[in-house]
Amino acid sequence: MTMKTTLAFFALSASMAAAQTFPDDLVERGRYVATASDCVACHTGPEDKPFGGNHRIASPVGDIWATNITPSTTHGIGNYTEQQFSDAVRRGIRADGANLYPAMPYTAFARITDEDMHALYAYFMQGVEPIDEPSQQTALAFPFGLRFSMMGWNLLFADSATHQDDPAKSAEWNRGAYLAEGPGHCSTCHTPRGMLMQEDGGQYLAGAQVGPWFAPNITSDKAGGIGSWRKDEIVAYLATGRAEGKSQAGGSMAEAVSHSFSKLTADDLGAIATYIMDVPAIAGPARFDLGTAGNRTAEFRGIADPDLTDLGAGAQIYSANCAACHGYDGQGTKDQYYPSLFNNSDTAGKGANNFVAAVLNGVNRKTDQGHVFMPPFGTQTNAFNSLDDGEVAALTNYAMNQFGDGVTTVSAEDVATIRAGGPTSNMVKVVQTLIAVGAALVAVVLIATVIVLRRRKRAA
Ligand code: HEC
Ligand code: HEC
Ligand code: HEC
Repeated sequence: MTMKTTLAFFALSASMAAAQTFPDDLVERGRYVATASDCVACHTGPEDKPFGGNHRIASPVGDIWATNITPSTTHGIGNYTEQQFSDAVRRGIRADGANLYPAMPYTAFARITDEDMHALYAYFMQGVEPIDEPSQQTALAFPFGLRFSMMGWNLLFADSATHQDDPAKSAEWNRGAYLAEGPGHCSTCHTPRGMLMQEDGGQYLAGAQVGPWFAPNITSDKAGGIGSWRKDEIVAYLATGRAEGKSQAGGSMAEAVSHSFSKLTADDLGAIATYIMDVPAIAGPARFDLGTAGNRTAEFRGIADPDLTDLGAGAQIYSANCAACHGYDGQGTKDQYYPSLFNNSDTAGKGANNFVAAVLNGVNRKTDQGHVFMPPFGTQTNAFNSLDDGEVAALTNYAMNQFGDGVTTVSAEDVATIRAGGPTSNMVKVVQTLIAVGAALVAVVLIATVIVLRRRKRAA
C-alpha cells in the first residue's frame, strides 16, 4: 500500500467504527452498568439534560466540573474510541492524554470487567441522546491545575486491576463485591481519606465526611457499623432509602438511591448486602437503638426568651418547626413516613453532622415508591421558617440530648461549617505544598536537562 491508500484505509476504518451498530441487548446491558455506576448523577447539570455535563462538584481545592459525556462529536465524547473511553473510565486518562481528577471515581471503576466496559461503550455511543452543547470545564488554581501531578498520585494510589472473583466466597458474595467495589463505588464516599486524599485502605468503609453529609461506618461492627442490620434491612435501604427504625438516606446517598441503587435488581441488591455484611468490622461509637421518645417543652414553659445555649430553646424550636411532622415526642408517624428521631442514625454519634445537614438542606428523594420530601430550614425559599446557625445548634443539642446519644453537642460555628458545604481539611494546604514541591522539582530537572543539552551542543 502507498502512504495515501494506507491513510485512506485508516480513515475508512475509523469512520466505520463510529458508524458501528451494536446489538440492542449489548446496549441494554451497558445501560444497566451505567445505572449501577450512577454516571448520570455526576454528569447531569441543573438543566437536567442527561449526561450533558455542567455538574459542579465542590472539592477542597476548587470546583471540578463533570463534563458532557453524550455521543456528541462536537461537545461530547462522540469521537472517543473504545480504548480511549476505557482509559477515561478505568484509568482516569482523557482522550487528549490529560489526567482526570479523582472526583471522577476511576479508582473504583478500574474494577469494571472488560465485558461490562464494552457494553458501557455500546450504550454511550448508541443508547444516549447526543447533546451538542458545551459543558463548563474545570480550571483549578495553580498548582492544582497541573493535571500531570495526578500521574504521581495514580502511581502511588490507583490500583488498575479489574475485579477477580475470590474462589473462597460464594457467587453471590463475589457479585456483591464487584458491584460495591466497582460500579457502585461505595468506598469513594464511605472510606476516610488520608493526607493526599487517597482512600485509607485500613479504614475501608469506616465512615467519611463528603461535603455537608457524613457517610457513616458501614462495616460489620455491631455498634459503630451496620453489623446489627438484617440483610433485608440493607436491601430495603438501598432500594427505597430507608431502613425503618434505623436510618433514612439524605444528601448524596439519597441521590445514589434515586438514580442508581433503587433501579438495580433484587438479586443484585441482595448480593451487595451479602458482601457488605462481610466487610471486616471497624469499631466506633454505638449508633443504633439510642434515645427515647419524649418532650421537655413543659419543663421550660414560661421562660420568655430562653438563652440559645439552654436546652429549653432547642425544645421550643423543635415544637415550633419539627413536631408537626416528626411528632411532639419525636416518635414520627405510625407508618414512619415521617420517621422517629430516636432510634435514628442521624441523632447518634459519630457527630451530629447529618442531623444538621438534614435540618439545613432537607431531604429530597425519588424512587418508584414515591417522592420523599422534607423542607430545608437553611433557606428562605419555602413556607417554613429559616433557622440561623445559633438556632440550629440549639435544636441539634436538644435533639441529641433527648433523641440521640446524649453526649454530642455542636456550636453555631459547627453549623456554619455545614451550611458552607462541609469542613475543608487542612490537608488542602499539605497537598498544595506537596504539589508545589513536585512542580519545583520538575522545573529543576527541566532546567538541568536544558543546561546539559546546551553543554553537549557546545562540546560537539
Ligand atoms: C462522582 C462523580 C462521577 C461519576 C459517578 C462519574 N463521573 Fe465521569 N467524570 C466526573 C468528573 C468530575 C469528570 C471531570 C474530571 C476532570 O475534569 O478532571 C469526569 C470525566 C469523565 C470523562 C472524560 C470526559 C471528557 O471531558 O473528555 C468520561 C469519559 C467520563 N467521566 C465517563 C463517565 C462514565 C461512563 C461514568 C459511569 C460509569 C462516570 N463518568 C461516572 C465525575 C463522575
Ligand atoms: C456519593 C456518596 C455515596 C456513595 C457512592 C454511597 N454512599 Fe452510602 N451514604 C452516603 C451518605 C452521605 C450517607 C448518610 C445519609 C444520611 O444519613 O442521610 C450514606 C448512608 C448509607 C447507609 C446508612 C448507614 C447508617 O448508618 O445510617 C448505608 C447502609 C449505605 N450508605 C450503604 C452504601 C452502599 C452499600 C454503597 C455502595 C453500593 C453506598 N452506600 C454508596 C454516601 C454515599
Ligand atoms: C413537612 C414535614 C417535615 C418537617 C416539618 C420536618 N421534617 Fe424532618 N423529615 C421529613 C421527611 C419526609 C423525612 C424523610 C424521611 C425518609 O427519608 O424516609 C425527614 C427526615 C428527617 C431526618 C433524617 C434525615 C436523614 O437524611 O437521615 C431528620 C434528622 C429530620 N427529618 C429532622 C427534622 C427536624 C429537626 C425538623 C425541624 C427543624 C424537621 N425534620 C422538620 C419531614 C419533615
